[in-house]
Amino acid sequence: MTTQITPLIAGNWKMNGISASLGEVRRLAEMLATGEAPRCTIAICPPATLLSQLNAIAAPSGIVIGGQDCHPMPSGAHTGDISAHMLADAGAQCVIVGHSERRARYGETDDLVRGKAVAAMTAGLIPIICVGETEAERQSGRAEEVVSSQLANSVPEQIGQLGIVVAYEPVWAIGTGVTPTSDDIAQMHGTIRRLLTERYGETGARTRILYGGSMKPANAREILAIENVNGGLIGGASLLANDFHAIISAV
Ligand code: 13P
Repeated sequence: MTTQITPLIAGNWKMNGISASLGEVRRLAEMLATGEAPRCTIAICPPATLLSQLNAIAAPSGIVIGGQDCHPMPSGAHTGDISAHMLADAGAQCVIVGHSERRARYGETDDLVRGKAVAAMTAGLIPIICVGETEAERQSGRAEEVVSSQLANSVPEQIGQLGIVVAYEPVWAIGTGVTPTSDDIAQMHGTIRRLLTERYGETGARTRILYGGSMKPANAREILAIENVNGGLIGGASLLANDFHAIISAV
């Protein structure tokens, strides 16, 4: 982990969680209050229906809340969509954009993801921009090429004052229990760091690069110790306070 960057441990609840699930956040807040001070920023991205309620519980513990997606426009006739401005109004400070589940199932292109990232920054949110190769792309030796191209086209030309976060999530590692080797993670994060630094200078050198895909209490310590891994984007293991707290403690 690059020491001068405060790591970010972000939970992506995906389409999980109803008001009964808020008990887990209360438990997490209690664990944080009684244990050692965390050495990272903590974020939870719940379904939009829970943002306000979760914020009321999480904010006193310093836990940041975020959205899981946003529309590129600030408002308008877009039934079912949520704008970055609305997320900010509900208390969000960040938003995930370009998650592979949205890229694959809703055909989200790099151009659209970039538009969402711009909208997020305009609304005062930090975009967590996801990139990652599929299993077939890795097997054909194209992982770096795919991720480099996603990065070049999904990350906006201008990065605002608040900065951005990049999340490297190999698609084949999401929800499968399988993770890349530490060497493979180090190599991809090194490439992302180089590309960000070439393009954005000091801002790129300071940008958090998260790893995501089957991060669990059992492997978090090892993954978080890899150079240029500045935190994690955690799905399944963020739903239970015990597991999420164990990952926070692994920083
Ligand atoms: P899992 O941690 O469940 O593999 O999900 C990772 C992810 O997609 C986070 O955005």
